[in-house]
Amino acid sequence: MTTLKNDRYLKALLREPVDMTPVWMMRQAGRYLPEYKATRAQAGDFMSLCRNAELACEVTLQPLRRYALDAAILFSDILTIPDAMGLGLSFGAGEGPKFAKPIENKSAVDNLPIPDPEQELQYVMNAVRTIRRELKGEVPLIGFSGSPWTLATYMVEGGSSKAFTKIKKMLYTQPHLLHSLLDKLAQSVILYLNAQIKAGAQAVMIFDTWGGVLAHRDYLDFSLQYMHQIVDGLIREHDGRKVPVTLFTKGGGLWLEAMADTGCDALGLDWTVNIADARARVGHKVALQGNMDPSILYAPAPRIEQEVRSILADFGQGSGHVFNLGHGIHQDVPVESPKVLVDSIHQLSQAYHK
Ligand code: CP3
Repeated sequence: MTTLKNDRYLKALLREPVDMTPVWMMRQAGRYLPEYKATRAQAGDFMSLCRNAELACEVTLQPLRRYALDAAILFSDILTIPDAMGLGLSFGAGEGPKFAKPIENKSAVDNLPIPDPEQELQYVMNAVRTIRRELKGEVPLIGFSGSPWTLATYMVEGGSSKAFTKIKKMLYTQPHLLHSLLDKLAQSVILYLNAQIKAGAQAVMIFDTWGGVLAHRDYLDFSLQYMHQIVDGLIREHDGRKVPVTLFTKGGGLWLEAMADTGCDALGLDWTVNIADARARVGHKVALQGNMDPSILYAPAPRIEQEVRSILADFGQGSGHVFNLGHGIHQDVPVESPKVLVDSIHQLSQAYHK
């Protein structure tokens, strides 16, 4: 087992005692940091940054140099899998992701390959290996993937969407076709995350950013079922340590019990949920990650600290909480704000771990 200087993130996910509440921030590497923008400019476009292991490692480490974060997250994107399946991913300036060949019919689904993580996605595994080497055991490295449903929304819509009309039309007119797409994605995600774990990721997180747009029964059938398959297929112990799995459905507050029943180790919460209620509902089964509204980072320091106090008090005494934002950090927050957040969590949480 490789030693870790700071393992409180892994311990909290397994609900083992910690000295203070660990914290990291979703999308902690990104455009709110001037040094990120500089490295990104050096790489050219976003995917070139992801494909360059040295530069991906550099941007992964940038937020850790500024703030006392308890985990690093692989710098990559959830859309690497559909890109490796041949859909032709591009990020236009200020436009968000676009696929040249969106999925429109059965033959497109039938012809989709299941990418080999050490071939088409080897650049991701190289980034994982490089980051692990450069982290030098300071904090654990989180690997990640999108959920099959969330990946399918981008693949069928051809990019970002507000109303999800194309994929919902497929869901209600050709449910078998959508299921076969989700099934291929689930198989691909299992191979991809297991390869990240073998390459050095010490925990993994599944981002189901768009699960919350589904009707109740459809969420269970078209999103959660496939995340459950993934949880069942993952390597859960590696290098003498448990590899915790976190599921995050944005807007998933109504389904926490069902999510906890997949056998995952932790649930990510967005800010619409009260973390005290969430703990009462599922805290005997899973750890909780979250859940401050990322917009609070626009506020002055006392307001950020007030929110930290409230969330820590709501979660209450003991382990099983990883502090985080309820979604990704905004690109225009002041760079001083995350320091206020991280330092106040570490300081104020110690009382809850005595
Ligand atoms: O620091 C980290 O958290 C690691 C890196 C990371 C990125 N994307 C980098 C990125 C992670 C974990 C993601 C996940 C991701 N990507 C999700 C799930 C999490 C969420 O936020 O809900 C989703 C839905 C995507 C898809 C995606 N990637 C979109 C919609 C966009 C464009 C929107 C935007 O923010 O500009 C991206 C691009 C992207 N991924 C950027 C970064 C830093 C911005 C690209 C740039 O530098 O121009």
